[in-house]
Amino acid sequence: MRLAYSTWPEITAFLNTSKTVIIPIGSNEQHGPMGLLGTDWMCPEIIATAAEKVAQGSEALMLAPTFNIGMAQHHLGFAGTISLRPSTFMAAIEDWVLSLARHGFDHIYFLNGHGGNIATIEAAFSQIYSHYSYNNKTCPLTLRLKNWWDLPGVASLCHGMFPVGHGSHATPSEIAVTYAAYPDQVREVELTPKIPPTGPILDALDYRARFPDGRIGADSSLATIELGQQIIDTAVAGLLSDIKLFSAEQKPA
Ligand code: NI
Repeated sequence: MRLAYSTWPEITAFLNTSKTVIIPIGSNEQHGPMGLLGTDWMCPEIIATAAEKVAQGSEALMLAPTFNIGMAQHHLGFAGTISLRPSTFMAAIEDWVLSLARHGFDHIYFLNGHGGNIATIEAAFSQIYSHYSYNNKTCPLTLRLKNWWDLPGVASLCHGMFPVGHGSHATPSEIAVTYAAYPDQVREVELTPKIPPTGPILDALDYRARFPDGRIGADSSLATIELGQQIIDTAVAGLLSDIKLFSAEQKPA
């Protein structure tokens, strides 16, 4: 079930069968000359939406709207990037979680598509848990952050597909996933150099100076629709098995 395409009585009925919700979360940021600005929110949304369709016949999954703006200050040197500062992002995550928790969702699973979000999402979880910790109470929520590339089977598949030139930003794997889902958005661009440099991430001007076209170590031109579909299929299976384990997790009595 998709939360945004449901009515409130349907959500109430769903909560009698499951209290797990998946939130795709990402970022709107430059992805080099071949990657779409939405790559990091599209990838988790594409995977979670496909998994939700597969699950319709058996145990229904609840899919929340995509949280599509993240912490991307280092990409602000490139046109089109939109970023929340870490403190804003944490506050927004907390409000999303508390809204869903108020209705009875108690297993909240963020499927993430942006490495730059990880520290802030984990900090937001600690902030939520701390309200209970200081008051000597047990938080009723089980919160999980999972990067889509860490789903079972995905990293080894991508490593096999792209042994050289995968890199860490505007990677052929993430771009392939978006090309598979949106084949009319495929870009043909001559990349120079094929494999750009790698290095640390600091502020936006420093990033632009180190990584002039936005890519970090990634030959985006290796992305194809066919490879992207293979990655999606593997990630969907991985997500379905991971969600099953996550939903079964219980707090100690
Ligand atoms: Ni990305």
